[in-house]
Amino acid sequence: ADHPLRTTESARSTADSALITALRGARPERHPVWFMRQAGRSLPEYKKVREGIGMLDSCLMPDLVREITMQPVRRHDVDAGIFFSDIVVPLRLAGIGVEIVPGVGPVLDHPVRTAADVAALPELEDSALDVIREAVSLTVGELGSRPLIGFAGAPFTLAAYMVEGRPSRDHFGPRRMMHADPETWNALASWAARVSGQFLRAQIVSGASAAQLFDSWAGSLSAADYRAHVQRHSAAAFEAVADLAGPGVVGGVPLLHFGIGTGDFLHHLRDAGASAVGVDHRLTLAEAHRRLCANPGPDGRGAVPLQGNIDPALLGAPWEVLEAHVREVVASGAAAPGHVVNLAHGVPPETDPTELTRVVELIHSIDVPERPA
Ligand code: CP3
Repeated sequence: ADHPLRTTESARSTADSALITALRGARPERHPVWFMRQAGRSLPEYKKVREGIGMLDSCLMPDLVREITMQPVRRHDVDAGIFFSDIVVPLRLAGIGVEIVPGVGPVLDHPVRTAADVAALPELEDSALDVIREAVSLTVGELGSRPLIGFAGAPFTLAAYMVEGRPSRDHFGPRRMMHADPETWNALASWAARVSGQFLRAQIVSGASAAQLFDSWAGSLSAADYRAHVQRHSAAAFEAVADLAGPGVVGGVPLLHFGIGTGDFLHHLRDAGASAVGVDHRLTLAEAHRRLCANPGPDGRGAVPLQGNIDPALLGAPWEVLEAHVREVVASGAAAPGHVVNLAHGVPPETDPTELTRVVELIHSIDVPERPA
């Protein structure tokens, strides 16, 4: 089921796109921009096609996935599609009882809290991923030379839902477990790394040109706890696709790594094996760049391309205010060896989509500077 050759074909056809060029650290013809949660409830056409279909059910309908992934690309002219799915889809495909409750988020039938709970977790069969591979192939076919970004949830963020059984604010469950019962924590995080790695791999071999690991809730950890209890598990998820990765290689897929509130340990996100790092709204891109340079990794890498970081709270502010902010973000990103413009987190559902289209037009109208060598 694993056809690395097809990766190369589709990655070749998107190699000169603005997104992949920026992630290679070269100068694209325009600033690449996409939005986390660009597909979804901000779009009336999304609400229409989802009517009467459960969120996770919709993720297992390849033609619907293709359509929903394409909607924001058609409407906004963004520089990439983000595969329409969810971080808990691999759990569902492994046979775990999980639902996405509207307005709440992922809820599990049985939280995973003990060594026995972890030992009883089913493995994810490769054949269960056929539906994902089919949906990616269909989508890539329609996107043509525009890249598709695949993604997966990072082990900590997945485990946060699994241990709590539902969304939580402080993530005490997984944070307690890593200290109280490190063996069970490591078994759970290894399981999550395995299914996320499989999910990423299915998307890349079917034609995704880049991939992002979402560690949305990693910001609830200290840098020390991230380093000691989490980083190697995220590294294992990246390791599952390392033979397909590498922004410098033709057909090599760049790997993005993003978490909210992770400004204190962006270098740890980089060193988990990412080619580029996402930044939230709490620090400027110039400051993120400075911190990465000041903390080179064991492989000697300091600066890497950055992604971000338009504050989604400013969508809906008067246009002059939003425009000034977007221009500041783009100017700040010039410090890094490459910059992919994005929001600092997902598109809020109440966003007026015409505002997003206007933001894309603005970003595309700004000249791309020469990069410092
Ligand atoms: O455009 C895209 O980004 C589409 C693909 C996508 C979705 N979820 C679709 C979705 C991606 C990349 C995700 C990732 C995801 N899912 C993350 C990481 C990114 C982040 O937001 O931090 C997380 C933490 C989840 C878990 C999850 N799924 C939550 C918290 C929710 C929101 C629940 C709600 O109703 O507010 C979901 C549901 C979800 N995933 C929706 C979409 C479009 C909304 C559900 C709907 O439209 O009915």
